[in-house]
Amino acid sequence: MSWDERQRRMLEAMGLRVWERPVVAPAAPAPAPVVSAAPVQAPAARSAAPVPAPVPVPVPVAAPVDVPVSVRVPVPVDRSARAEEIARMDWAALRESVADCRACGLCEGRKNTVFGVGNQAAEWMIIGEAPGEQEDLQGEPFVGEAGKLLDNMLRAIGLSRADGSPEQQVFIANTLKCRPPRNRNPEPGELAQCEPYLRRQIELVRPRIILAMGRFAVQFLLNSSEAIGRLRGRVHEVNGVPVIVTYHPAYLLRNPPDKALAWDDLCLALETHDAAGTKS
Ligand code: URA
Repeated sequence: MSWDERQRRMLEAMGLRVWERPVVAPAAPAPAPVVSAAPVQAPAARSAAPVPAPVPVPVPVAAPVDVPVSVRVPVPVDRSARAEEIARMDWAALRESVADCRACGLCEGRKNTVFGVGNQAAEWMIIGEAPGEQEDLQGEPFVGEAGKLLDNMLRAIGLSRADGSPEQQVFIANTLKCRPPRNRNPEPGELAQCEPYLRRQIELVRPRIILAMGRFAVQFLLNSSEAIGRLRGRVHEVNGVPVIVTYHPAYLLRNPPDKALAWDDLCLALETHDAAGTKS
């Protein structure tokens, strides 16, 4: 198999090994065995001098971690009234509401809410699961190892979270805006409270295509608990917006051979995006 330069760059960006048939060089003659004539050194005589006592090396003591005492506690809310209110919010109000949210217990442990990042008018929306430790600290989605892979995947198809026109700069959001403790799975009650935020984000961004990464994004969008492997490879649709299902980057880090399948999903997403026409 031989790759053109563009394919090679895409595969390398995703961390996929670019395989090329090795060029077989003519075998070099085996080197003649070398017989050393040097005499074998006798081990150095052991010194009779007393061995100095080891000098204690100071062990660095970790700086104390400033653990803030949580003053945030969840406030019971009427779920449907709250959802209706969120459904009327503009972008600024939505951002503020997420930052102040106390609708579930996750507010107690968070350092930051993670609203999302990217172009508010993006043609591409990427939906992941929930913030992890780094995301909680920095207030931005996908900034850990999985995020680096996601950035490489996006770069491979000419997209970025950081800059560009709405055609090139994506918007990335999660199903949950707060970190679940010890990165456990989101719980149904937490997903239900956070759902109106993501729904409103999708309504306001009006993407031309959505990439659903992993089980929880798929459950949110397609209301399906089928395995990713059974849902990927075809185009789904939610409220007229095409949805492509693919593996979560954290899963791909644990299962590198499936990066090839994720690459197919990205190609399908590109084709679908290009066929979907311009944003009205
Ligand atoms: N995994 C996610 O799904 N979202 C993040 O923001 C980080 C890791």
